[in-house]
Amino acid sequence: MKELEEKIRHYGKVIEPDVLKVNSFLNHGVDPILMDHIGKAFADHFKNNEITVVYTIESSGIAPALMSALYLGVPMVILKKNMSSTMSDDLLHATVTSFTKGNTYDLTIEKSLIHDTDRILFIDDFLANGQAAFGVIDLIGQTNASLVGIGIVIEKAFQNGRKLLKEKGYDVYALTSIKRMDSSTITFK
Ligand code: G4P
Repeated sequence: MKELEEKIRHYGKVIEPDVLKVNSFLNHGVDPILMDHIGKAFADHFKNNEITVVYTIESSGIAPALMSALYLGVPMVILKKNMSSTMSDDLLHATVTSFTKGNTYDLTIEKSLIHDTDRILFIDDFLANGQAAFGVIDLIGQTNASLVGIGIVIEKAFQNGRKLLKEKGYDVYALTSIKRMDSSTITFK
């Protein structure tokens, strides 16, 4: 997606060898027009997959996932990392270990929000090592619902998320894919 690549080139900062800061339009500040275009691009790609619901993980996946759900005409579910007091006791959990952040968290969903007939599209901001996606796969695997697509805004192709997901039979659709990056240059696939 050209528009996204231009944004990354213009505003992205490589702050560690494998970490790209995009706080001005995706992770902290959010560009609504770009999110609208991202949602449309995901919806165009997945429109024939009979998606019934879009999943994401709080927090940075929410904006692109919401716009995708809007264009697909389906609801969105935010998988929680932090339990809120309004959540019922009837929950499903999956544990995710983040290599980028060096922490472990529990993904949580209320059972009442997931249905056996669901055809789920998972949307996230970054794909690094695929740990978040594997958490979602674990969660959905505890039910009879199906994960039918994974949409990623920025894939870091030099990390092994896509490879690991492909080995398990999951195909990833990424709007941008970074082949390599350093403090002076970002090269897209
Ligand atoms: P993985 O799921 O692909 O294995 O990724 P990993 O655990 O390594 O990444 C965990 C968190 O770090 C995620 O955010 C992910 O979006 C983010 N992340 C990964 N690589 C980058 C990067 O190069 N740049 C930025 N800006 N973020 C990256 P999170 O913990 O869920 O945080 P948030 O959604 O609340 O922002």
